[in-house]
Amino acid sequence: MRTVFWENNELKMIDQRILPARFELISYRGHKEVALAITDMVVRGAPAIGAAAAFGLALAGYESAASSSTALLADLESAATTLKAARPTAVNLAWAVDRLMESARKMKDERNVNDLRQLILDDAQRLADEDVEINKRMAEHGAALINDGDTIIHHCNTGALATVDWGTALGVIRTAHEQGKKIHVLVDETRPRLQGARLTAWELEQYGIPYEIISDNMSGFFMKAGKVQKVFFGADRVAANGDVANKIGTYMLSLAAFDNHVPTYAVVPTSTVDLSLAHGDLIPIEERNPNEVLDIQFQGEPVAPKNAKARNPAFDVTPSRLLSGIVTENGVVYPPFDVNLKKVVK
Ligand code: MRU
Repeated sequence: MRTVFWENNELKMIDQRILPARFELISYRGHKEVALAITDMVVRGAPAIGAAAAFGLALAGYESAASSSTALLADLESAATTLKAARPTAVNLAWAVDRLMESARKMKDERNVNDLRQLILDDAQRLADEDVEINKRMAEHGAALINDGDTIIHHCNTGALATVDWGTALGVIRTAHEQGKKIHVLVDETRPRLQGARLTAWELEQYGIPYEIISDNMSGFFMKAGKVQKVFFGADRVAANGDVANKIGTYMLSLAAFDNHVPTYAVVPTSTVDLSLAHGDLIPIEERNPNEVLDIQFQGEPVAPKNAKARNPAFDVTPSRLLSGIVTENGVVYPPFDVNLKKVVK
Protein backbone atom coordinates (compact mmCIF):
# COMPACT_ATOMS: atom_id res chain seq x y z
CA MET A 1 0.00 0.00 0.00
CA ARG A 2 1.14 3.53 -0.75
CA THR A 3 1.61 6.13 2.00
CA VAL A 4 -0.32 8.74 -0.01
CA PHE A 5 -2.92 7.78 -2.63
CA TRP A 6 -6.08 8.88 -4.42
CA GLU A 7 -9.17 6.68 -4.13
CA ASN A 8 -12.88 7.39 -4.68
CA ASN A 9 -12.32 11.13 -5.18
CA GLU A 10 -10.45 11.43 -1.89
CA LEU A 11 -6.84 11.69 -0.82
CA LYS A 12 -5.96 8.90 1.60
CA MET A 13 -2.91 8.93 3.84
CA ILE A 14 -1.46 6.66 6.50
CA ASP A 15 -1.59 8.48 9.85
CA GLN A 16 2.10 8.45 10.80
CA ARG A 17 1.51 10.08 14.17
CA ILE A 18 0.14 6.90 15.70
CA LEU A 19 2.37 4.24 14.17
CA PRO A 20 3.47 1.67 15.23
CA ALA A 21 0.71 1.39 17.86
CA ARG A 22 -2.10 1.62 15.30
CA PHE A 23 -2.31 1.52 11.49
CA GLU A 24 -5.02 3.90 10.29
CA LEU A 25 -5.83 5.75 7.09
CA ILE A 26 -7.31 9.24 7.04
CA SER A 27 -9.34 10.52 4.05
CA TYR A 28 -9.20 14.13 2.88
CA ARG A 29 -11.60 16.13 0.72
CA GLY A 30 -10.22 19.65 1.24
CA HIS A 31 -6.84 21.26 0.54
CA LYS A 32 -6.81 23.20 3.82
CA GLU A 33 -7.11 19.94 5.76
CA VAL A 34 -4.26 18.52 3.69
CA ALA A 35 -2.08 21.54 4.54
CA LEU A 36 -2.87 20.99 8.24
CA ALA A 37 -2.06 17.28 7.94
CA ILE A 38 1.36 18.22 6.54
CA THR A 39 2.00 20.71 9.37
CA ASP A 40 0.83 18.21 12.01
CA MET A 41 2.91 15.45 10.42
CA VAL A 42 0.10 13.02 9.69
CA VAL A 43 2.23 12.74 6.55
CA ARG A 44 5.94 13.55 6.70
CA GLY A 45 9.14 12.98 4.74
CA ALA A 46 10.11 15.26 1.87
CA PRO A 47 8.75 13.30 -1.15
CA ALA A 48 5.60 12.23 0.72
CA ILE A 49 4.64 15.80 1.61
CA GLY A 50 5.28 16.82 -2.01
CA ALA A 51 2.86 14.15 -3.25
CA ALA A 52 0.31 15.01 -0.53
CA ALA A 53 0.42 18.68 -1.56
CA ALA A 54 0.00 17.73 -5.22
CA PHE A 55 -3.17 15.76 -4.42
CA GLY A 56 -4.20 18.64 -2.12
CA LEU A 57 -4.08 20.93 -5.13
CA ALA A 58 -6.23 18.46 -7.08
CA LEU A 59 -8.75 18.59 -4.21
CA ALA A 60 -8.70 22.40 -4.40
CA GLY A 61 -9.73 22.10 -8.05
CA TYR A 62 -12.79 20.03 -7.10
CA GLU A 63 -13.61 22.27 -4.10
CA SER A 64 -13.68 25.36 -6.31
CA ALA A 65 -17.07 26.49 -7.61
CA ALA A 66 -15.38 28.27 -10.56
CA SER A 67 -17.18 28.02 -13.90
CA SER A 68 -14.29 29.25 -16.05
CA SER A 69 -10.68 28.13 -16.35
CA THR A 70 -9.50 31.64 -15.41
CA ALA A 71 -11.52 31.62 -12.18
CA LEU A 72 -10.36 28.10 -11.38
CA LEU A 73 -6.74 29.11 -11.84
CA ALA A 74 -7.22 31.96 -9.34
CA ASP A 75 -8.57 29.48 -6.76
CA LEU A 76 -5.69 27.13 -7.45
CA GLU A 77 -3.14 29.95 -6.95
CA SER A 78 -4.60 30.64 -3.52
CA ALA A 79 -4.61 26.92 -2.58
CA ALA A 80 -1.01 26.63 -3.80
CA THR A 81 0.04 29.39 -1.38
CA THR A 82 -1.69 27.62 1.54
CA LEU A 83 -0.15 24.25 0.72
CA LYS A 84 3.38 25.61 0.21
CA ALA A 85 3.27 27.32 3.61
CA ALA A 86 2.59 24.06 5.47
CA ARG A 87 6.28 23.29 6.14
CA PRO A 88 9.34 25.32 5.12
CA THR A 89 12.41 23.08 4.87
CA ALA A 90 11.64 20.26 2.42
CA VAL A 91 11.84 21.79 -1.04
CA ASN A 92 9.83 18.90 -2.52
CA LEU A 93 6.67 20.55 -1.18
CA ALA A 94 7.10 23.77 -3.18
CA TRP A 95 8.59 21.82 -6.08
CA ALA A 96 5.50 19.62 -6.42
CA VAL A 97 3.01 22.49 -6.14
CA ASP A 98 5.00 24.66 -8.56
CA ARG A 99 5.20 21.83 -11.09
CA LEU A 100 1.42 21.37 -11.10
CA MET A 101 0.73 25.11 -11.17
CA GLU A 102 3.05 25.59 -14.12
CA SER A 103 1.13 22.95 -16.04
CA ALA A 104 -2.24 24.50 -15.06
CA ARG A 105 -1.12 28.01 -16.10
CA LYS A 106 0.13 26.69 -19.42
CA MET A 107 -3.09 24.82 -20.20
CA LYS A 108 -5.57 27.39 -18.86
CA ASP A 109 -6.52 28.73 -22.30
CA GLU A 110 -6.64 25.32 -23.94
CA ARG A 111 -8.82 23.41 -21.46
CA ASN A 112 -12.32 24.01 -20.23
CA VAL A 113 -12.80 24.25 -16.49
CA ASN A 114 -13.58 20.57 -15.92
CA ASP A 115 -10.72 19.39 -18.09
CA LEU A 116 -8.40 21.68 -16.13
CA ARG A 117 -9.55 20.05 -12.87
CA GLN A 118 -8.85 16.63 -14.35
CA LEU A 119 -5.45 17.79 -15.62
CA ILE A 120 -4.34 18.72 -12.09
CA LEU A 121 -5.42 15.34 -10.77
CA ASP A 122 -3.65 13.51 -13.62
CA ASP A 123 -0.49 15.54 -12.95
CA ALA A 124 -0.64 14.72 -9.23
CA GLN A 125 -1.07 11.02 -9.99
CA ARG A 126 1.86 11.13 -12.43
CA LEU A 127 4.05 12.83 -9.83
CA ALA A 128 3.18 10.13 -7.27
CA ASP A 129 3.86 7.29 -9.72
CA GLU A 130 7.16 8.87 -10.74
CA ASP A 131 8.22 9.09 -7.10
CA VAL A 132 8.04 5.31 -6.74
CA GLU A 133 9.90 4.73 -9.99
CA ILE A 134 12.61 7.28 -9.06
CA ASN A 135 13.07 5.70 -5.62
CA LYS A 136 13.64 2.30 -7.17
CA ARG A 137 16.25 3.70 -9.56
CA MET A 138 17.97 5.49 -6.68
CA ALA A 139 17.90 2.31 -4.64
CA GLU A 140 19.73 0.37 -7.37
CA HIS A 141 22.52 2.99 -7.49
CA GLY A 142 22.78 3.12 -3.70
CA ALA A 143 22.63 -0.64 -3.14
CA ALA A 144 25.82 -1.02 -5.20
CA LEU A 145 27.62 0.86 -2.38
CA ILE A 146 26.60 -1.73 0.24
CA ASN A 147 28.67 -4.84 0.86
CA ASP A 148 27.52 -8.18 2.17
CA GLY A 149 27.86 -8.09 5.97
CA ASP A 150 27.70 -4.30 6.35
CA THR A 151 26.30 -2.68 9.49
CA ILE A 152 24.63 0.60 8.56
CA ILE A 153 23.52 3.53 10.70
CA HIS A 154 20.30 5.10 9.43
CA HIS A 155 18.82 8.37 10.69
CA CYS A 156 15.13 9.43 10.82
CA ASN A 157 12.66 7.62 8.57
CA THR A 158 13.36 7.61 4.86
CA GLY A 159 11.35 4.55 3.86
CA ALA A 160 8.05 3.96 2.10
CA LEU A 161 6.42 6.13 4.76
CA ALA A 162 8.59 9.15 3.89
CA THR A 163 7.82 8.81 0.18
CA VAL A 164 4.92 7.55 -1.91
CA ASP A 165 6.48 4.09 -1.71
CA TRP A 166 9.83 2.27 -1.41
CA GLY A 167 11.90 5.07 0.13
CA THR A 168 15.19 6.92 -0.32
CA ALA A 169 17.98 5.83 2.08
CA LEU A 170 15.84 3.04 3.51
CA GLY A 171 14.89 2.11 -0.06
CA VAL A 172 18.61 1.58 -0.73
CA ILE A 173 18.86 -0.70 2.33
CA ARG A 174 15.70 -2.54 1.24
CA THR A 175 17.05 -3.16 -2.26
CA ALA A 176 20.42 -4.36 -0.91
CA HIS A 177 18.50 -6.79 1.34
CA GLU A 178 16.43 -8.02 -1.62
CA GLN A 179 19.66 -8.58 -3.54
CA GLY A 180 20.55 -11.10 -0.84
CA LYS A 181 23.15 -8.98 1.00
CA LYS A 182 23.27 -9.71 4.70
CA ILE A 183 22.98 -6.33 6.41
CA HIS A 184 22.32 -5.07 9.89
CA VAL A 185 20.81 -1.65 10.58
CA LEU A 186 21.47 0.46 13.66
CA VAL A 187 18.37 2.64 13.77
CA ASP A 188 18.89 6.10 15.28
CA GLU A 189 15.78 6.67 17.38
CA THR A 190 15.72 10.28 16.11
CA ARG A 191 14.64 12.55 18.92
CA PRO A 192 12.36 14.38 19.43
CA ARG A 193 9.64 12.78 17.27
CA LEU A 194 11.29 9.36 17.17
CA GLN A 195 10.78 8.70 13.47
CA GLY A 196 13.55 6.08 13.68
CA ALA A 197 12.30 4.11 16.69
CA ARG A 198 8.66 4.32 15.60
CA LEU A 199 8.60 4.30 11.82
CA THR A 200 11.92 2.95 10.53
CA ALA A 201 11.87 0.07 13.02
CA TRP A 202 8.26 -0.67 12.01
CA GLU A 203 9.22 -0.74 8.33
CA LEU A 204 12.30 -2.92 8.90
CA GLU A 205 10.06 -5.40 10.72
CA GLN A 206 7.83 -5.65 7.63
CA TYR A 207 10.82 -6.25 5.34
CA GLY A 208 12.51 -8.79 7.62
CA ILE A 209 15.73 -6.75 7.81
CA PRO A 210 17.66 -7.25 11.08
CA TYR A 211 18.01 -4.09 13.17
CA GLU A 212 18.61 -2.66 16.60
CA ILE A 213 17.45 0.74 17.83
CA ILE A 214 20.10 3.02 19.31
CA SER A 215 19.58 6.41 20.93
CA ASP A 216 21.05 9.19 18.79
CA ASN A 217 24.00 9.75 21.13
CA MET A 218 25.27 6.16 20.70
CA SER A 219 26.32 6.37 17.05
CA GLY A 220 29.81 7.75 17.80
CA PHE A 221 30.42 4.91 20.24
CA PHE A 222 29.64 2.23 17.67
CA MET A 223 31.62 3.92 14.90
CA LYS A 224 34.70 4.40 17.08
CA ALA A 225 34.48 0.70 18.04
CA GLY A 226 34.70 -0.17 14.33
CA LYS A 227 31.21 -1.69 14.29
CA VAL A 228 29.77 0.45 11.48
CA GLN A 229 30.66 0.30 7.77
CA LYS A 230 28.30 2.94 6.28
CA VAL A 231 25.94 5.74 7.21
CA PHE A 232 22.85 6.41 5.07
CA PHE A 233 20.24 9.15 5.42
CA GLY A 234 17.88 11.18 3.23
CA ALA A 235 17.53 14.93 2.87
CA ASP A 236 14.88 17.62 2.80
CA ARG A 237 16.88 20.05 0.73
CA VAL A 238 20.31 19.97 -0.88
CA ALA A 239 22.01 23.26 -1.77
CA ALA A 240 24.00 23.76 -4.99
CA ASN A 241 27.30 23.07 -3.17
CA GLY A 242 26.04 19.74 -1.78
CA ASP A 243 25.26 20.93 1.76
CA VAL A 244 22.37 18.83 3.01
CA ALA A 245 19.49 19.81 5.29
CA ASN A 246 18.07 16.74 6.97
CA LYS A 247 16.44 15.70 10.25
CA ILE A 248 18.03 17.23 13.33
CA GLY A 249 20.97 15.13 14.46
CA THR A 250 22.25 14.36 10.97
CA TYR A 251 25.08 16.89 11.36
CA MET A 252 26.40 15.34 14.59
CA LEU A 253 26.10 11.86 13.08
CA SER A 254 28.06 12.98 10.00
CA LEU A 255 30.78 14.58 12.13
CA ALA A 256 31.27 11.35 14.07
CA ALA A 257 31.28 9.35 10.83
CA PHE A 258 33.86 11.68 9.24
CA ASP A 259 36.12 11.46 12.29
CA ASN A 260 35.93 7.67 12.16
CA HIS A 261 36.35 7.38 8.34
CA VAL A 262 32.91 5.78 7.94
CA PRO A 263 31.57 6.45 4.41
CA THR A 264 28.45 8.62 4.62
CA TYR A 265 25.79 9.00 1.92
CA ALA A 266 22.74 11.20 1.49
CA VAL A 267 20.11 9.60 -0.77
CA VAL A 268 17.91 12.13 -2.55
CA PRO A 269 15.73 12.41 -5.62
CA THR A 270 16.87 15.34 -7.77
CA SER A 271 13.59 17.07 -6.80
CA THR A 272 15.24 17.60 -3.38
CA VAL A 273 18.17 19.53 -4.91
CA ASP A 274 17.68 23.29 -4.81
CA LEU A 275 20.25 24.79 -7.18
CA SER A 276 18.89 28.28 -6.44
CA LEU A 277 20.60 28.20 -3.03
CA ALA A 278 24.41 28.47 -3.18
CA HIS A 279 25.01 26.86 0.22
CA GLY A 280 23.25 25.24 3.14
CA ASP A 281 23.12 28.28 5.44
CA LEU A 282 20.46 29.68 3.08
CA ILE A 283 18.08 26.75 3.68
CA PRO A 284 15.11 27.74 5.88
CA ILE A 285 15.06 25.60 9.02
CA GLU A 286 11.70 24.82 10.59
CA GLU A 287 11.46 25.40 14.35
CA ARG A 288 8.61 23.31 15.77
CA ASN A 289 6.63 23.43 19.00
CA PRO A 290 8.94 22.90 22.04
CA ASN A 291 6.35 20.50 23.47
CA GLU A 292 7.66 17.90 21.02
CA VAL A 293 10.86 17.95 23.10
CA LEU A 294 9.20 18.32 26.50
CA ASP A 295 6.35 15.82 26.17
CA ILE A 296 8.54 12.73 26.49
CA GLN A 297 8.02 10.56 29.59
CA PHE A 298 10.37 8.34 31.56
CA GLN A 299 8.83 5.47 33.53
CA GLY A 300 5.39 7.01 33.02
CA GLU A 301 6.35 10.45 34.38
CA PRO A 302 7.20 13.66 32.49
CA VAL A 303 10.96 14.00 32.08
CA ALA A 304 11.28 17.77 32.35
CA PRO A 305 10.22 20.08 35.21
CA LYS A 306 6.73 21.54 34.73
CA ASN A 307 7.86 24.99 33.59
CA ALA A 308 10.87 23.88 31.55
CA LYS A 309 11.53 25.64 28.26
CA ALA A 310 12.98 23.94 25.19
CA ARG A 311 14.19 24.57 21.66
CA ASN A 312 13.10 22.46 18.71
CA PRO A 313 14.82 23.03 15.35
CA ALA A 314 13.52 20.18 13.21
CA PHE A 315 16.47 20.03 10.78
CA ASP A 316 20.18 20.78 10.63
CA VAL A 317 22.61 21.30 7.78
CA THR A 318 25.47 18.90 7.13
CA PRO A 319 28.31 20.55 5.19
CA SER A 320 29.10 18.66 1.99
CA ARG A 321 32.73 18.15 3.07
CA LEU A 322 31.45 15.49 5.51
CA LEU A 323 29.70 13.48 2.78
CA SER A 324 31.26 10.68 0.73
CA GLY A 325 28.56 10.86 -1.93
CA ILE A 326 25.02 11.89 -2.79
CA VAL A 327 22.91 9.12 -4.33
CA THR A 328 20.30 10.30 -6.87
CA GLU A 329 18.09 8.53 -9.41
CA ASN A 330 20.60 9.60 -12.06
CA GLY A 331 23.61 8.07 -10.31
CA VAL A 332 25.93 8.67 -7.36
CA VAL A 333 27.44 12.15 -7.19
CA TYR A 334 30.94 12.50 -5.75
CA PRO A 335 32.93 15.62 -4.80
CA PRO A 336 33.39 18.30 -5.98
CA PHE A 337 29.62 18.52 -5.39
CA ASP A 338 29.33 22.13 -6.59
CA VAL A 339 30.46 20.94 -10.02
CA ASN A 340 28.99 17.42 -10.17
CA LEU A 341 25.56 17.97 -8.64
CA LYS A 342 24.49 20.23 -11.53
CA LYS A 343 25.25 17.44 -13.99
CA VAL A 344 22.58 15.08 -12.58
CA VAL A 345 19.80 17.64 -12.08
CA LYS A 346 17.75 17.88 -15.25
O1 MRU B 1 10.24 15.99 9.95
P1 MRU B 1 10.16 14.86 8.97
O2 MRU B 1 9.84 13.56 9.60
O3 MRU B 1 9.29 15.20 7.79
O4 MRU B 1 11.64 14.75 8.42
C1 MRU B 1 11.93 13.83 7.42
C2 MRU B 1 13.36 13.69 7.15
O5 MRU B 1 14.17 14.43 7.68
C3 MRU B 1 13.77 12.70 6.14
O6 MRU B 1 15.03 12.20 6.46
C4 MRU B 1 13.79 13.39 4.77
O7 MRU B 1 12.53 13.85 4.42
C5 MRU B 1 14.35 12.59 3.68
S1 MRU B 1 13.64 11.01 3.46
C6 MRU B 1 12.62 10.95 2.25
